[in-house]
Amino acid sequence: MISNSERSEISSSHFSRKLVIDDERLRILKGWHNTLAEQLVIASGDDEIIKRTPRDHNERFASAEAANEWYARDEHIVYSLAQAANLAGIIWFTKYDTPVIENADYTFAIRMYEGARGKGLAGNFARAVLLDFEATESGSDVWLETDTDNDAALHLYESLGFAPISSAKTRTKMVRPGVMSRLGYHHLEAE
Ligand SMILES: CC(C)(COP(=O)(O)OP(=O)(O)OC[C@H]1O[C@@H](n2cnc3c(N)ncnc32)[C@H](O)[C@@H]1OP(=O)(O)O)[C@@H](O)C(=O)NCCC(=O)NCCS
Repeated sequence: MISNSERSEISSSHFSRKLVIDDERLRILKGWHNTLAEQLVIASGDDEIIKRTPRDHNERFASAEAANEWYARDEHIVYSLAQAANLAGIIWFTKYDTPVIENADYTFAIRMYEGARGKGLAGNFARAVLLDFEATESGSDVWLETDTDNDAALHLYESLGFAPISSAKTRTKMVRPGVMSRLGYHHLEAE
């Protein structure tokens, strides 16, 4: 059984890309490490995150221990966006054994943090991440759910190729077909 700290070491530092957007110098890192767990605790305390994704502040990243447990619990693929020593944003994919939506093995989540949010960085970050994800995960479909009144998120997701599949009063579900689906391939049912 791999402990959290061992898994943190194993999963970090195998992907790193420089991302220069306008004058912003950023770096995308793939993987998990203890510093990221600590940064997430602090970053999840800002008002917009508490308003839009309260579980980050209250549960997932309530403490560094909670964050490490969250990472170890399900299969997560995590990309962080670093601006010098600051955490500018995070994207993660979560894989469940039983997909909630047919063909979509993973959910997609993004947060941009105070200081980096609202500057037009999210799209470039997400596009770079989705390219890497598609290269390593055989182009799985991904899905997400967001608040129906989260205009910035809805606009971003549509620009990334997510399409709404259901829209309730407060929550909208969206799917982004992976490259295999776009080519017409679908999962085979287990015999
Ligand atoms: C949703 C979120 C990731 C978007 O990141 P961001 O840094 O605010 O977004 P950006 O500045 O990069 O803008 C993304 C796009 O949305 C547009 N946009 C921004 N605010 C908007 C608004 N209120 N209404 C409509 N479009 C908006 C931008 O113009 C941009 O579009 P473009 O690429 O076509 O120019 C960020 O706001 C966030 O982390 N919010 C808190 C957590 C959250 O809501 N996460 C999603 C939960 S499902």
